Amino acid sequence: MDAQFDRVREILRGAASVAVLTGAGVSAESGIATFRDPDGLWAKFSPRELASMDGFLANPERVREWYAYRKTVATTAQPNAGHYALAALEQQTNGSFCLITQNVDRLHQRAGSRNVLEVHGNLIENRCNDCEAIRTDDVLVCPLCSGAMRPNVVWFGEELPQDVFAAAEQAAMTCDVMIVAGTSAEVYPAAGLPYTTKRYGGVVVEVNPNPTALSSEAHYLLTGTSAQILPHLVGDVP
Ligand code: OAD
Repeated sequence: MDAQFDRVREILRGAASVAVLTGAGVSAESGIATFRDPDGLWAKFSPRELASMDGFLANPERVREWYAYRKTVATTAQPNAGHYALAALEQQTNGSFCLITQNVDRLHQRAGSRNVLEVHGNLIENRCNDCEAIRTDDVLVCPLCSGAMRPNVVWFGEELPQDVFAAAEQAAMTCDVMIVAGTSAEVYPAAGLPYTTKRYGGVVVEVNPNPTALSSEAHYLLTGTSAQILPHLVGDVP
């Protein structure tokens, strides 16, 4: 491993507060498609039809079917070495640790990560469109208020869950180092978090096989897949 790795490992060892921001690329090696890569979901499916309130109102059956398919893919997939390395990093950190994920597949939690902020929701739960009650069964109509149940995933044009994003911003402001793994860093407001870390004096480390919107701003670029790179950072690999 080169000097960059040694330096990042050292920074992580000395950090009192570590934040991680992950995106779809972290689950690619678990067989879950990303969004903006050439074989990604947005190359095959229309976000307007499947990931917006207008799309849901126009064809709720189609939208529910697509999320049911994605839920099956997620629940039958297994966490990969990158997810496990981040769970190990949480255990190794002497201080606070926060994993902010844009992923909706729950693989971080299944790999053992504890302090996870799901800023884009998840595929496991449904939420009432009216009273916001959360359920894990597949009822179509809210038993409390008769509103339409929808996937508990953030759609285009929607606000992120307020408390969750406020906690993510707090972590971005206070961390000594933020690892940004497997995200194109194009979707705001989540993509703004590493810039917040930088502004508050923290170190930003990007892990990605490809250049992204963030690359020129990151202090360290570790080029490769998350299942290859992340285990090296936590010392799982000699
Ligand atoms: P994208 O599909 O935009 O970006 C995936 C990133 O993962 C790219 O930068 C790839 O280079 C990288 N990548 C691919 N394979 C990888 C691997 N094995 N290891 C590490 N990185 C790899 O996905 P996100 O950035 O997560 O929003 O997209 C952000 C949001 O846009 C998603 O949360 C979703 C989408 O619309 C919602 O659903 C609300």
